[in-house]
Formats: sequence, structure tokens, C-alpha cells
Amino acid sequence: MYNQSALKKIIDKALVNLAYNAEAEKLMEPVRYVLSMGGKRIRPVLALMTCNLFSDKIDDAVIPVTGLEIFHNFTLVHDDIMDQALMRRNMQTVHSKWNVNQAILSGDVMPFISYECLLQTPSQILSPVLKTFTRAAMDVCIGQQMDMDFEKSAVVTQDEYLRMIELKTAALIAASAKIGAIFGGAEEREIEILYEFGRNLGLAFQIQDDLLDVYGDVKTFGKISGGDIVADKKTFLFIKAMEIANTEQRKILKEQYTQQTQNAEDKIRIVTDIYNQLNIKSLTENIADDYINASLKFLEKVSVSQERKEELIQMTTSLAGRNH
Ligand code: IPE
Ligand code: IPE
Ligand code: MG
Ligand code: MG
Ligand code: MG
Repeated sequence: MYNQSALKKIIDKALVNLAYNAEAEKLMEPVRYVLSMGGKRIRPVLALMTCNLFSDKIDDAVIPVTGLEIFHNFTLVHDDIMDQALMRRNMQTVHSKWNVNQAILSGDVMPFISYECLLQTPSQILSPVLKTFTRAAMDVCIGQQMDMDFEKSAVVTQDEYLRMIELKTAALIAASAKIGAIFGGAEEREIEILYEFGRNLGLAFQIQDDLLDVYGDVKTFGKISGGDIVADKKTFLFIKAMEIANTEQRKILKEQYTQQTQNAEDKIRIVTDIYNQLNIKSLTENIADDYINASLKFLEKVSVSQERKEELIQMTTSLAGRNH
């Protein structure tokens, strides 16, 4: 069995060895930059792990699942433009290092590089793999649209929020787990269980991301704190706070999220103060843990030996309470 760090090395190596079109140096430089600036690589690693659950042979999956990581990085390049984020992985984002047009175009080419990788899937499973990936890729865009729309809507329910993060984040993580299982030769029932496993893990993952945006250590998390508050994002923290706040606190939260002239630091401080008063941090941690536990429950249902599941359980458990 392969462990998480060995699999991450395999993916990092595949990313370094990617061949780029020499004619397109200016287009590719930001691509190479974003793919070399670190990142946890959880999607392709997850896929290799779900493959390894069923099969000792993971080689055929390496390049195709590297495509999942390239697609993920594409979403980050465009997401950082939309969110006006200046830092990621402790480095300048592509649009702030180059410019917005460059980030749009270098972002645009990345899904095609992903498809080139995914097209290296053996022909007997090519169709379900591409179908799963393409569906997830569309889901991410739909989720990102909702995320943008919610910035402007005063009331977003918890269910609407959960649907949004299911699309923008959980869909690709779920598809990664599913694609790995397809590569491993799993049966239909197991493949669907792994999708559900990934979906729950993905929901936990985004809720934690929302939490870290406010409470993460900037150096460890690698992104600027409070960006979600500044952008009026309807995060889990905000929605929960609105739900349990008293009249006065709710009034302040509403005001902060509608005033356009507000100083960013003041806004972050005022909103965070209310989160602190309402104990939002631990409420959010608990919900994320619930989804992690739900994902582990799906893993229990997979019909392979406990021993084969160890690495995946270990990785899933280690994501609970993650700090980056
Ligand atoms: C960040 O994803 C975007 C979200 C979906 C929360 P990751 O936290 O996986 O980012 P990297 O690739 O490790 O930097
Ligand atoms: C991003 O959500 C999800 C994507 C599909 C990229 P966020 O906007 O919260 O991700 P970060 O915090 O910028 O990584
Ligand atoms: Mg975003
Ligand atoms: Mg963002
Ligand atoms: Mg975020």
C-alpha cells in the first residue's frame, strides 16, 4: 500500500514532468508558476488512494489524476480574480503577479491540459472517467456562480449554502474519489459509496476553509485572513452567526455586510468579534467534524479489508482540524 506522502511525491513529480508547448512560453509561465507553488494535492492523492483500495497497480492512474490537480489549480487562478485575493500558498496570486488578462488566459488553457492528462485513461474506462470529471467541472462553475450571487443576497439559508459548497468544492473531491475507484476496478456499488465518501469529505473541507479564512494562522494557511468577510461571502460562519445572533448582533452583522464604504480591517474586526461572542469557531469545527465522521461511515461500507483502508482513514482523520 502507498502512503499519503509517497503519493504526494508521485503527483508532484508528474506535475514537474509535464511537457509544455515551447511556442507558448508567456501563456505557460503562470501555469508552471501556480503548479509549482505547493498545495496539498489532496484530490489526486485521494484518487490514487481510492484506486489503491482495490488494486496494487496505480501507475495507469497517475497522469489522468494529475489532470484533476491541474483543473483544481485552474479554478484557483480564476477564483482569485473573482475574490480579488492577493495571496495563495504564501505567494502572490497569478493576477497580482502578472495581470488579470494574463490570469484569465493562462487559467483558460489549464482545463485543456487537464483533459490531455485525463485522455490518457485506458480506453475501457475512459468514458466513465471523462463523464465523472466533466460533470464535476461543470458543477464547480455552477457552485462558483452561486457563491458570487450569494455575495449580493441578504439572506442565504444553510441549505442553500450547503448546496453551493457541494457544487463548488465537494463535487471535485467526490469525483476524485470516484475516479480513483474506477481505476482500481471497483464495482458500481463501491464506486458510488466512494463518491459519497468524497462528497462528505468535501463539505467538511470547505467548511474548514471558511473557518480558516477567519481563524487560520496567515503563515500556515497561506491566504490573507478575513477575505471572505471583506467580500460579503455567505460562509458557514456568517450564516450560523445570523441564525443564532440576538437582535442587536444581527443588526450589526447586516450593517457590516451591506456598507460599501467600510474600512476592511474594521469590518473584519467587528464581524469577528460577534463570531467570538457567539462561539462560532467551535460550532463550525463541530459541523466539519460531523461531515468527516459521515465520510468515514461511508468508508466503513466499502467491501475491502480494514488493512487496505488504513491509509485512507488516516488521511481523512488527519483532515479533521486541519490548519492549512
Ligand atoms: C482551496 O483548495 C480551495 C477550496 C476548495 C477550499 P485546497 O485547500 O485544496 O488548496 P491547495 O491546493 O492545497 O492550495
Ligand atoms: C473556492 O472557494 C472554491 C473553488 C472552486 C476554487 P474559496 O474562494 O473559499 O477558496 P479559497 O479560500 O480562495 O482557496
Ligand atoms: Mg471563491
Ligand atoms: Mg477564493
Ligand atoms: Mg476560502
